[in-house]
Amino acid sequence: MRLDRLVGHLSELGRNAVREKLASGSISVGGDVERNGQRDVSTFEAVAMDSQVLQDRTVRYVLLHKPAGILSATSDPVHKTVIDLISESWADELHLAGRLDRATTGLVILTNDGAFSESLTQPGAVVPKTYLVTTDLPISDEVITAFETGMRFEKEDITTQAAIVERLAPCETRLTIYEGKHHQIKRMFARFEIRVTALHRESIGDYRLTDDFLPGDYRTFKPDACEEK
Ligand code: URA
Repeated sequence: MRLDRLVGHLSELGRNAVREKLASGSISVGGDVERNGQRDVSTFEAVAMDSQVLQDRTVRYVLLHKPAGILSATSDPVHKTVIDLISESWADELHLAGRLDRATTGLVILTNDGAFSESLTQPGAVVPKTYLVTTDLPISDEVITAFETGMRFEKEDITTQAAIVERLAPCETRLTIYEGKHHQIKRMFARFEIRVTALHRESIGDYRLTDDFLPGDYRTFKPDACEEK
């Protein structure tokens, strides 16, 4: 956003007053006096006026092990949400980079960095997501072939990318998909009249739940710090 508009918005000063503040050197960006109101300022740059902080947002990234029964939403009048599990003063700034159904367990990523969440979720982003799937019926070779070939989803007008399927037991599969369509895995199995009885997301791209990561646990991370993934 342009600096003059941001200052006007955050300080509630009128356009002329903002111009005067800029001209008198009262506005700083990242600690340095800034007189150019037309320059762009990102959400994460510190902006101050007369030493009063107007914006000072730290970029946040969180991995969370979502337990069953918790909503993948930022607020809800009835049900507990993933945000309710994060006991940090900044939890309300976060949004989800991809949702899980209420009964589904496993990894969700939250952030206040829109560009980062878009890199994981926007159409065309090729990010593998791996799930452990338990079903009410055994998985046949026909099902595996269909998943590995790609399936047509008329509503969204897409054909899924070839999934990776690992049969762990007759009714247990490790499945990697590359899209994140609504109820995608349940709908894939439903084509074959198979019901998903438990679903757990193990990983999103390079980010995975390690064994010590219990339901309800969360951790902050930095996207470039390999050891924290
Ligand atoms: N597919 C589903 O059907 N549900 C989820 O929660 C995630 C993927």
